[in-house]
Amino acid sequence: MNANTIFAEIISTGRFLPPEITTNADLEKVIDTSDDWIRERTGIKERRIAGEDLSTAQMGARASLDAIGKTDIDPTDIDLIILSTATPDRLLPSTACDIQALIGATNAVAFDLGGACSGFLYGLSMAEGYLASGRAKNILVVASEKMSSIVDWTDRSTCVLFGDGAGACMVQKSEGKNGIIGSHHGSDGRLAELLYRPAGGSLIPLNSQLMETGDHLVKMSGKEVFRNAVRSMVEASEKALANAGLSSDDVDLLIPHQANIRIIESTARYAGISMDKVFVNVHRYGNMSSATIPVAMDEASEMGILKTGMNILTVAFGAGFAWGAVAIRW
Ligand code: UT7
Repeated sequence: MNANTIFAEIISTGRFLPPEITTNADLEKVIDTSDDWIRERTGIKERRIAGEDLSTAQMGARASLDAIGKTDIDPTDIDLIILSTATPDRLLPSTACDIQALIGATNAVAFDLGGACSGFLYGLSMAEGYLASGRAKNILVVASEKMSSIVDWTDRSTCVLFGDGAGACMVQKSEGKNGIIGSHHGSDGRLAELLYRPAGGSLIPLNSQLMETGDHLVKMSGKEVFRNAVRSMVEASEKALANAGLSSDDVDLLIPHQANIRIIESTARYAGISMDKVFVNVHRYGNMSSATIPVAMDEASEMGILKTGMNILTVAFGAGFAWGAVAIRW
C-alpha cells in the first residue's frame, strides 16, 4: 500500500471472553506442571475456557455484536465478514457464514481466513485492500478461537499456553488522517512443522487411530518458535513503521500478539520500544491465537489507554510460519 494514502479506519472494536476461568492452580491438578513454571516461562496466570455451549462462531458473533453496537451500522449494512480462525466450528462450510447467520448480516459476503496467530492482521490488510478498491464499505474483521478444542490436554508443553476468546472490529473507508498507515506481512511454509496439527486434514484424514496418537492436535517446538517469533516480529515492526514513514520513537502504543511475556519483552526491546508503551494482557487470557490483538485493542480502548490520534503498532507471529505488523493512526 502507498504510505501516503490511508484507505481503512477501524471505527469500533468489540470482544467476547468465555466466563469460565482456568487458573494455573487448576491445571496443576490435572497435569504435571506448576504455577511457578507457567508464570516464570510465559507470564500466564489464567485463561478462559469455553464450555460446550460456546463455539467459535458463537464467540465470534458476540464479539461482532459488541463492535457493531458501538456504531450506527445495522448488521444488514455489512457487506463483508472476514473471520480469522484456526478452530472453525466445522471444516465445511466456513465459520464466517455461521457468524453471518447469527448476527443477521444478510447482505454480507463471508469467508474464513487461515493465518493462525497472525490471521487478524492479515484480515485487517485484506479489508484495507477491499476498501482501497471500492469493493466494500462496511467490513467486519473478526478473530475467534476455541483453542481448548485443539490442544492436547496431556501435553504440558502446549496445553498450559492457550485460551479461548474472540475479538472484532468494524472497518470503513478512512475519511481523514486516521487509519492503517503502514503494514508488512511474511510467511515461510518451510517451517510449518514447528507448529502444526499433523493430521485431520486432507493429507492425513481423520481415522480412529488418530484419536490414540493425538496427531490431530497441536504440536509445537517451543524454543524454535520462540526464536523465530522474536526475529520476525522485530523485522515486521521495522518494515511496517518504515512503510508508514515512522520510527520506533513515534510509536505511542505497541499491541503485540500475546503468546508469552518473554516474547513480548524481547520484541519490544529489539524493536526499540519501551515496555511502558506496550499493552499486555497475556497473564489473564494466555494465547488466544489470532483473537489476542482485537481483544487487546478493545480492552485498551475501554481503559482509555488507546486514544484517538495515537500511533499504534500491532504485530503478530504464528503457525505457517506467518507473521505481520500493521501500523495504525487511531
Ligand atoms: O502464538 C505463537 C505460537 N507460540 C508461541 O509463541 C510459543 C513460543 N514458545 C514459548 O513460549 C516457549 O518456548 C515455551 C513457553 C513453550 C517453553 O518455554 P522454554 O523456556 O522454551 O522451555 P522448554 O520447552 O525448553 O522446557 C524447559 C523444561 C523442560 O524440562 P527439562 O527437559 O529441562 O527437564 C520441559 O519438560 O520445562 C519443562 N516443561 C514444563 N514444566 C512444567 C515444559 N512445559 C512445562 C510445564 N510445566 N507446563
